[in-house]
Amino acid sequence: MSELQGKHLIVIGGSSGIGFAVAQLAGLQGAAITLIGRSQARLDQARALLVAQGTKVRELVVCDAHDHTALTDCFSRLPPFDHLVSMIGDAMGGSFLAADMATIEQVIHSKFLTNVLIGKLAAKKLRPGGSVTFTSGTGGRAQHACASYVGNLGIQALAQGLAAEIAPRGRVNAVAPTWTVTPFWREQPEEQVEATRQHFASVIPLGRTAEIDELASAYLFLMTNDFITGQQLAVDGGIMLG
Ligand SMILES: NC(=O)c1ccc[n+]([C@@H]2O[C@H](COP(=O)([O-])OP(=O)(O)OC[C@H]3O[C@@H](n4cnc5c(N)ncnc54)[C@H](OP(=O)(O)O)[C@@H]3O)[C@@H](O)[C@H]2O)c1
Repeated sequence: MSELQGKHLIVIGGSSGIGFAVAQLAGLQGAAITLIGRSQARLDQARALLVAQGTKVRELVVCDAHDHTALTDCFSRLPPFDHLVSMIGDAMGGSFLAADMATIEQVIHSKFLTNVLIGKLAAKKLRPGGSVTFTSGTGGRAQHACASYVGNLGIQALAQGLAAEIAPRGRVNAVAPTWTVTPFWREQPEEQVEATRQHFASVIPLGRTAEIDELASAYLFLMTNDFITGQQLAVDGGIMLG
């Protein structure tokens, strides 16, 4: 197992939710953190919390990862790093027949194509012994969230292909959470989020939804276990076993 002490971790989407929890855990293990996100205010708030726990924040970078020109420019300014976590991946609901093409294209652009570009750009800056961890998802069916489902399959293929291409210099994996209460749902009314939480708790064999730290610890595990590559780790309470 490698140590995170003194390592440089980039978290794309590290200003809230799961990515922020990854930054917190890695920071507590001695990693220096660079956070990338769209909102300067959210980045500032995340930095304040990280600094308060004694974590070194190297840089805050405002960048919309969906803008591939801006993303390429952002990477050109980053120094070499040891680990990168990507939290990028829009979600949607709807079947292939019901969803409109614009929604399907947006989610494939976000979840698959943007992460392909992140992988290409990260490969050039990754230090030997480093890792890239993408975020996939699980628990849904193709007929319920068609583009999210395809995007998740794409992430799994990306992790496998890139892992083979980068080895032995570095490793590539993905974490697949299922539905979890995070700020991701900030635009939905609280009652709707609570109703969805209750629904998932009733269909997840372990009888509840995840805590954010349970998801974040899976990223830390994949980041520090030097003999795991090309894998997708579902952290989903066994939702697909039903
Ligand atoms: N929560 C769930 O139920 C769930 C389930 C399965 C999978 N996931 C996946 O987990 C990932 C993280 O979700 P979360 O629940 O932690 O949500 P979150 O709390 O909303 O965090 C998302 C993070 O990504 C940043 N971000 C979003 N779009 C971006 C963009 N285009 N460019 C740069 N940064 C961007 C956000 O900051 P800004 O908004 O300021 O940019 C924020 O820091 C997503 O890929 C999501 O699909 C979540």
